[in-house]
Amino acid sequence: MFRITQYMKTLHAPTPLGPSIKPPGPVVIWNLIRRCNLTCKHCYSISADVDFKGELSTNEVYTVMDDLKEFKVPVLILSGGEPLLRPDIWDISKRAKDMGFYVGLSTNGTLIDESNIEKIVAAKYDYIGVSIDGIEATHDEFRQRKGAFKESMHGIKLCQERGIKVGLRFTLTQDNAHELPLILDLMDEYDLDKFYLSHLNYAGRGKRNRKRDVFHQMTRDALDMIFERSWNELKQGIEREYVTGNNDADGPYLLQWAEKNVPEEVEALRQRLENWGGNSSGVNISNIDNLGNVHPDTFWWDYNLGNVREKKFSEIWANPEDELMKGFRMSPRPVKGRCGACQYLKICGGNTRVRAYSLTDDPWAEDPACYLSNAEIGVETEEEDRMPLPSHEVRTEHVAAVEKPQQFINAVNL
Ligand SMILES: C[S@@+](CC[C@H](N)C(=O)[O-])C[C@H]1O[C@@H](n2cnc3c(N)ncnc32)[C@H](O)[C@@H]1O
Ligand code: SF4
Repeated sequence: MFRITQYMKTLHAPTPLGPSIKPPGPVVIWNLIRRCNLTCKHCYSISADVDFKGELSTNEVYTVMDDLKEFKVPVLILSGGEPLLRPDIWDISKRAKDMGFYVGLSTNGTLIDESNIEKIVAAKYDYIGVSIDGIEATHDEFRQRKGAFKESMHGIKLCQERGIKVGLRFTLTQDNAHELPLILDLMDEYDLDKFYLSHLNYAGRGKRNRKRDVFHQMTRDALDMIFERSWNELKQGIEREYVTGNNDADGPYLLQWAEKNVPEEVEALRQRLENWGGNSSGVNISNIDNLGNVHPDTFWWDYNLGNVREKKFSEIWANPEDELMKGFRMSPRPVKGRCGACQYLKICGGNTRVRAYSLTDDPWAEDPACYLSNAEIGVETEEEDRMPLPSHEVRTEHVAAVEKPQQFINAVNL
């Protein structure tokens, strides 16, 4: 996750550079259930309104939680599918809070209503992120259910009225990029605390629909807009957080923004961004799926590190033998192509490996969604020599990889 506002604050009101602090354990994003009342076009978990067999029971969840606590995991993000469809979600949430975890709820928001808002208040979530992928018709089309937008916005309003910290999560594609300004206006209208821009990752239905990924210029336009908002709001004293995920080129892009707008703070920002180090899949971010399989992050469901029914999470995570994890933990990571040659590698960490893997079968190939030009990253080859985005014509050497069957996804292909 890239915390734009946090870095912007250091540009607006510079503070001395502190030491870089290593988190005690990874953040765990936990897909507690795969069932969902929506079937979004980009959904990495390929969720749908059916029961998925073999999910962790309440007691199994509790056993894993005890181990996570001992392993010093600081944050649990309860996700799905739609986590509010799990009948024991209130018990799980309460136990997690009582154990001292920071607990976030990742929800589509459609199921938050007057019948359960008191339970949501009682769960004392530290943060609730609700997905909104466009204004009304666009959102409903994206999430494949008419009325979803109205329901989610109603849920957001109920949370807001109860003083719960709530924000929007927006996944950028060609289908909704034009509505980003309106979505940012919604943040104002509802006085929301946080905006998360999720860049599309090529996993699950997001892989199948990867041709709808945005073009590089659209990503740049989106980031320009968010930088400007965040900066103007800081200047006006408005407390709102802007963050992004799944494209760590956002770090160098902010550095370039600072070069133009706050040049006197660029070197301090560069240092802070290097301390951050970019992509943290397999290091500070981890994932447990509904069946108890552990993955380097939520988008690696086709790569299992082990199962919490057979081994403790802490042992699975600490295993020094796993080849992919070895690469994630190298510094710098063994990335190739333009990522390997990039002058910003220390800042972005080589970006999102799942996209490279899903197009080439090589987790260390260059990330096609890096939207910085060769000139910007200090690489001298021609732009045409880059791996094309799926939204561009696919070059012949990548066709076989793109069309390869999904080897691992083990559930229904909805
Ligand atoms: C899988 S959902 C689960 C929680 C809840 N059902 C929801 O939709 O918010 C978690 C988040 O991941 C986002 N997401 C799903 N597939 C994605 C993909 N392929 N790339 C980027 N973000 C994705 C969703 O939009 C949502 O914000
Ligand atoms: S993104 Fe969330 S709401 Fe959409 S289908 Fe997936 S789990 Fe359900």
